[in-house]
Amino acid sequence: MSDSFSDTPHAQNAYYRPRFSLNGAWGYIVDPYETGYRNHRDWRPFDEAFHPSDRTFFEDARPVNAWDRIEYDFRVAPKMQVPGDWFHQVEELRYYEGSVWLHRDFEYELREGKRLFLRFEAANYETDVYINGESLGRHTGGFDPFEFEITRFLHGGANSLIVRVNNRREKNTVPGMATDWWNYGGITRDVYLFETPACYLRDYHFQLQPGKGDIGLAEFWLDGAEEGVELGIEIPALGIDAKAFADENGYARTEVSLSKAQRWSPETPKLYEVRFTAGEDQVQDLIGFRTIETRGADVLLNDEPIFLRGISIHEEVASVPRRAHSRADAQTLLKQAVELNCNFVRLAHYPHNEHMLRLADEMGLLVWEEIPVYWGIDYENPVAYESALSQLRSVVHRDRNRASVIVWSVANETPVTESRLAFLGKLKSTVRKLDSHRLVSAALDRTQSEDKRVLSLQDPFVHESDLMSCNQYLGWYYGMPDDCAVVSWDLDPDKPFFISEFGAGALAGRHGPKEEVWTEEYQAWVYEQQLAMLEKVSNFRGCSPWILQDFRSPRRNLSGVQDHWNRKGLLAPDGRKKKAFHVLKAFYDRIESTYRKESETSV
Ligand code: GCU
Repeated sequence: MSDSFSDTPHAQNAYYRPRFSLNGAWGYIVDPYETGYRNHRDWRPFDEAFHPSDRTFFEDARPVNAWDRIEYDFRVAPKMQVPGDWFHQVEELRYYEGSVWLHRDFEYELREGKRLFLRFEAANYETDVYINGESLGRHTGGFDPFEFEITRFLHGGANSLIVRVNNRREKNTVPGMATDWWNYGGITRDVYLFETPACYLRDYHFQLQPGKGDIGLAEFWLDGAEEGVELGIEIPALGIDAKAFADENGYARTEVSLSKAQRWSPETPKLYEVRFTAGEDQVQDLIGFRTIETRGADVLLNDEPIFLRGISIHEEVASVPRRAHSRADAQTLLKQAVELNCNFVRLAHYPHNEHMLRLADEMGLLVWEEIPVYWGIDYENPVAYESALSQLRSVVHRDRNRASVIVWSVANETPVTESRLAFLGKLKSTVRKLDSHRLVSAALDRTQSEDKRVLSLQDPFVHESDLMSCNQYLGWYYGMPDDCAVVSWDLDPDKPFFISEFGAGALAGRHGPKEEVWTEEYQAWVYEQQLAMLEKVSNFRGCSPWILQDFRSPRRNLSGVQDHWNRKGLLAPDGRKKKAFHVLKAFYDRIESTYRKESETSV
């Protein structure tokens, strides 16, 4: 039995519901000492006497009398754009990690019998939301959507919306205390309202099932339903008009023949307009139909072996730099991947904004999605586990109708311990429950033999992974590029082997002999040697080298070369291509033609 609607963290496909945007200029107050909670029951920084004049910020207190003393006012506070991280908008906040309170007013006329939801596509990291002084709740997790029903909180005239975002890294957060990326804080993605009828389609999952031929399974979860509500699925282009009926829990399922549907693939990214109805509610989606599975050492898309010509991507507009959040940002990043002749992108190391997935569906790019269980996590702390689980459920629910997504990754480079294995194992079983037909993986660490001549994957989680994946930096963090020619890989031959990261740093425009580190020649040398080594591995089925473009990182401190940038990009922040870009593209061009010839001859 699948989840009931109440288990669904947020509405499916809010993306295509009519929306009332709350993007724009919001007043903000920087609050490193949590003054905004000074007299709040949950926060007493020290045992100081109560000051009646100290008012919590979420009350949005306004002076009534000339003598009223209130030491904040959002309406005269400076403004910042939402969505947008505070790093690139406010110079003084470039290195700030703490709380910022943001405010805007809005007016909304809710029609009789309708329900109203407030949705954040993401805010990093801990977010408290208040409307007209009432708490709507707290969300933790910096890269996944969350929403609140505000039907009963709305009043006529201006409604005061106040949000506290705290991006402080803590031992029990996910990610934890150390990351090799910038901790951009703020309301980093779209904020909007959407309206539904009293009974609405809160979640659905519609896709082909491996081994079930052309039969698609559609499952529905209603919120506010009486038993027997009729559900409809219409695909006009296929002449499909199917029905189902909800049970007492608001759940319904039905099978639909998709024999006439053109399968979605990178070559033919066919999307169908699907119209879902549930009583008064209706929502349209664009869905591609395909199957993904592994068979022995092969990854099969629609029963055809594929090679994953990938690249890793951070969610960043390096030219500013700032967090990427818009459709235009997604187009820029994914077009660069297409220029590299990729058919696959690894969205590292956290769920990216939904525009990336919608565009990947349209452009025919396969996707690896990942939650930020990254490096040191407090694997024995239930708070950390709950946060990882919440982020995983959120991204799987948001994207499980996206044809482009084929891999859910539950970790990146995490130390092999009993508690970590248990932590990842529970996350994997959640993925299987929510979405049984995609590949589960994690970017594991390689093991090197004493004599450094044999690389292998000894991490027990490899047995839990459908795609055997690891990061390895031979020629950068250990050894020299030429060592690639003398090492061998000792792997399970009956699973697809995927390299989730290899790479090297180079400052764009720096040239010299290939032995000189930070030159483009050195980086190209690493790519040449790595690809030659990997191509010799019989079950090598793809890679997502690190990384598409240089990105901000507080860990990269070599002045004149890094300056808080990680320089492993194939592109400089201004878009200039480094030599290694062309090395990887030439490899992918050759691999693509090889696979095309093999699939033509296998017909
Ligand atoms: C690691 C990690 C990346 C990091 C990269 C690097 O593999 O997964 O997040 O940026 O190495 O060191 O550049």
